[in-house]
Amino acid sequence: MNRPDRALTVITCAAGPATAVGKLVSLALGRGWEVQLIATPSALAFFDPAEIERATGNPVRSQYSKPGEPRSLIPDALIVAPATYNTINKWAQGISDTYALGVLAELTGMSVPIVVLPFVNSALANRKPYRRSVESLRAEGVWIMYGPEGAQPHPPRTGGDLIATFPWHLGLDEVERMIGKQEGSPEGLRP
Ligand SMILES: Cc1cc2nc3c(=O)[nH]c(=O)nc-3n(C[C@H](O)[C@H](O)[C@H](O)COP(=O)(O)O)c2cc1C
Repeated sequence: MNRPDRALTVITCAAGPATAVGKLVSLALGRGWEVQLIATPSALAFFDPAEIERATGNPVRSQYSKPGEPRSLIPDALIVAPATYNTINKWAQGISDTYALGVLAELTGMSVPIVVLPFVNSALANRKPYRRSVESLRAEGVWIMYGPEGAQPHPPRTGGDLIATFPWHLGLDEVERMIGKQEGSPEGLRP
């Protein structure tokens, strides 16, 4: 069987909706993407990696490969969902102490289309460091769906009620819009 001709990497962080990341995987597979999931080390406790591996046919990665082992492919697009306060702040600062952050750092520098669906409560989302991080990543071309157009910050201790309605589809719609724009433009979005 031929492999799909467009590859999506999903980076999943340790927030409540990670328990349902299989929804995004199914949606993307159904729309003809090849999918690879990368998890932060903390996110591995939130879902069953074996189930995702069965669905995607690709390993779930959370660690760098050993020297000499094959590197992961460069995807056509990246969705970070759910994105945590922790990962967003570290990413914006240029910290690369997990495999997920290393991939984020590199793909941001390569101008791969990136869409982020944060899941951060309002107490954290109102902090100055977080607001600075969102602004700084947006200035680097990262599409953060935070606020009215995406994942709204929720009051502390209410996140559990919102897992079922986490807007996975918005992330996928947005990368498809970005890729479509890229394909439609002679210059494209990439350098
Ligand atoms: C059950 C549970 C739910 C959590 N929910 C969130 C959340 O909604 N948003 C968030 O930013 N952090 C949340 N956290 C805290 C993060 O897991 C923690 O900050 C962790 O260090 C994030 O690591 P990562 O960014 O590498 O995935 C949660 C932790 C637990 C155990």
